[in-house]
Amino acid sequence: AKQWQGVIREYADHLDVTESTPIITLGEGGTPLIPAPALSRRTGADVWVKYEGINPTGSFKDRGMTMAVSKAVEHGAKVVVCASTGNTSASAAAYATHAGISSAVLVPEGKIAMGKLSQAIAHGANLLQIEGNFDDCLAIARELADNYPVHLVNSVNNDRIEGQKTAPFEIIDVLGDAPDFHFIPVGNAGNYTAYTRGYREYAAAGHATKMPRMFGFQAAGAAPIVRGEVVTAPETIASAIRIGNPASWGHALEARDETNGYFGMIEDAKILEAQRVLSSEVGIFVEPASAISVAGLLERSDAGQIPAGAKIVLTVTGHGLKDPQWALKGADGEDLAPTVVRADTGEVAAALGIT
Ligand code: F0G
Repeated sequence: AKQWQGVIREYADHLDVTESTPIITLGEGGTPLIPAPALSRRTGADVWVKYEGINPTGSFKDRGMTMAVSKAVEHGAKVVVCASTGNTSASAAAYATHAGISSAVLVPEGKIAMGKLSQAIAHGANLLQIEGNFDDCLAIARELADNYPVHLVNSVNNDRIEGQKTAPFEIIDVLGDAPDFHFIPVGNAGNYTAYTRGYREYAAAGHATKMPRMFGFQAAGAAPIVRGEVVTAPETIASAIRIGNPASWGHALEARDETNGYFGMIEDAKILEAQRVLSSEVGIFVEPASAISVAGLLERSDAGQIPAGAKIVLTVTGHGLKDPQWALKGADGEDLAPTVVRADTGEVAAALGIT
């Protein structure tokens, strides 16, 4: 069987690449679109999950990073730089290493998940923890790129958005048309912008008859777009989207208006509840930021906004193994750590409740 070639080769016709572009790929994209009967039953809609945790570094960032690093190398860059809440840093470090160049990464001190920090370090990033939040890190990364010989690979780099627009291509290729609604987490709003562009371009190319309504969700403690103002001290357990001043804010509002979309916000407790629904009823384990798509769907369904039978795709952006600690707590914060039993079959059977 032919192996998936990564998003640049698979969708070269839709991307700004030429014969002279070196294609730096780890085989990203081609992720599963999984029917979610448990969510369909809860909402009366036809719900599918685009599982972006199944990318080489465990998040959707790889789609954008293959483009950003390929173009950086084409332009002769020797160092890429990014600010990150974690996933971008893991992806930038992996793709830079694969390309044989280096990566400089700025993360908010103590605020990124252990799995992501481990990835960036394992891939050889020159990583600094900054005494500040993500927005401070991004401001410095942008200034570094303006004043030093380093190439910025945050989503303010259009190559990132270009790579990320391939996810809706895959969704349309599987479903045969665009869904009615698309639910997606929002931090910097780069991915919301990228999906809208992808849906628009693939429809214009004749692959779909419509665009979905784009529904984006922020954590209640980090919801600048919903609140209409910068959040100077964003707080949420969904560390990936702990962002108070999104870089693609303006593009996101345009995309919302274009698709008759919506921005909502979700409390942390509801995010964790949705994470448990997805892991224990559908069989998909995602990090908290990703679960906000599910929480958003359940909330909009309760609000009566989801018509029966509507076709809905939820993007879940990152793998649960990146930030696993939340799975070991129950709804009321109780410890779900497993029981210890003597190595005795009878005792094990009794402890399992098997009679
Ligand atoms: N979900 C996950 C798991 C993320 O890591 C991010 C962003 C988002 C959603 C939001 O995407 O920013 O395009 O709206 N993470 C960035 C990072 C900020 O540094 O890894 P967005």
